[in-house]
Amino acid sequence: MQSAAQVDLIKELSLAVGAAHVLVDDDLRAAYEVDWTGRYQGPCNAVVRPNSVEEVAAVIRICALYDVTLVPQAGNTGLVGGSVPRPARPGARSAIVMSLTRLTRLGRVDTAAMQVTAEAGVTLTTWRESAHNAGLDTPVDFAARDTATIGGAIATNAGGSRVLRFGTMRRQVVGIEAVTAKGAIVGSLDGLPKETAGLHWPSLLAGSEGTLAVITAARLRLVPWFQHTATALVAVKSIESGIRLLAALRQSVTSLDAVEVIAPAAMRLVSDHIGQPPPVSSPEAALYVMVDCADHSDPSEQLLDVLSQADGIVDSAITTDAVQRKRLVAFRDRITEAIAAASTEVGVPTFKLDVAVPLDALGDLIKAAQGAADADGCRLVPFGHLAEGNLHLNHIGASHPERLANTVLSAVASLGGTISAEHGIGVAKVPWMSLIRNPAELDAQAAIRAALDPADMLNPGVLHPQVT
Ligand code: LAC
Ligand code: ZN
Repeated sequence: MQSAAQVDLIKELSLAVGAAHVLVDDDLRAAYEVDWTGRYQGPCNAVVRPNSVEEVAAVIRICALYDVTLVPQAGNTGLVGGSVPRPARPGARSAIVMSLTRLTRLGRVDTAAMQVTAEAGVTLTTWRESAHNAGLDTPVDFAARDTATIGGAIATNAGGSRVLRFGTMRRQVVGIEAVTAKGAIVGSLDGLPKETAGLHWPSLLAGSEGTLAVITAARLRLVPWFQHTATALVAVKSIESGIRLLAALRQSVTSLDAVEVIAPAAMRLVSDHIGQPPPVSSPEAALYVMVDCADHSDPSEQLLDVLSQADGIVDSAITTDAVQRKRLVAFRDRITEAIAAASTEVGVPTFKLDVAVPLDALGDLIKAAQGAADADGCRLVPFGHLAEGNLHLNHIGASHPERLANTVLSAVASLGGTISAEHGIGVAKVPWMSLIRNPAELDAQAAIRAALDPADMLNPGVLHPQVT
């Protein structure tokens, strides 16, 4: 871009949102230009911080006028490079980062409808606190809760630990407000649980990764707040026993909230990181399963019943005490942090793949992933969400990420799985979209994108393979 046009662009953006909210200095932009793992980064002309849906629309119209691309960003906790600018390329249009972190308004909780309206920049923790203040709870939770936002969670259709009980983010969105590439405000925040009037904007935009419109607010479902939680950490001697335990839990435990999985390599890493021995351990442990049950009264009886009858358990711990639970849950919640520390130690960002396969293929997936990691010479740290067959495969010190991705994602696809379970496609997995979508599906996806954003302005390079 010519510098005169750049000056005009910044001037117009400043008029739209206030000069204090257009960040152009290198050091002010820096944090917005890189993801937290340090793997994905790229430059932008400016970071713009609108404070309302009208300001978002104004910014989008200005970006269209100046033919710059727009990268929506909020918590920037993503793991697939979807919320930071693309690396600079000769001839590529320059980018503006639109930070939605000032959109933090939260409406009053409607306890009868069990809904609340939240702007895109509200964090998951704040959303949860507002629900708790009204005696309710939020159906989606994951480790990045303090920073990750509603907008990003919808845009990536985030999942987390409670999916087996309440579904992914998509299912929680009963109304949405967003701005299209034309600067038009679409959607509704009425939150009508029943409406059969054709196209459903929340469904269209959940998982669209900022490529169809910029989400500015949502009407969100809330759930009962079960204040009694029992957590068990169980070491099992095979993947098959873990899956049999899952089946028994689903069949008999009505308060089942989460069934997570931690591979021994992840348990070792997190235990070293937090400086505490694993609460359960056995040389025979092939896998650790963490189970949460939550109810209006102590749910441990049903849980203990299942645990006492399950086969293949080699050690277990269970608690309902809040302090003890926190200690136990840390062995799951702090794995990502432990991986980040290990990455800093080896000096390269860890290569992360978020995948899911049908449960009966989980053993084959782990074998294939370990084979690929051994061939690369890196350290594989798997953990994730057992109930959805969803593993986070972390490759610490990976030498050939692309080769690893080719091998693992091809194995995933041939096992009937998906290349992204809950982190999205971003830029990280675009080259492998054809493993899980056929040409007709990709054509249709491209046509929808072209209809809503013909100039390829919103988050280009993300989710949609480039049309040639
Ligand atoms: C988790 C994130 C990494 O499950 O998805 O902790
Ligand atoms: Zn996860």
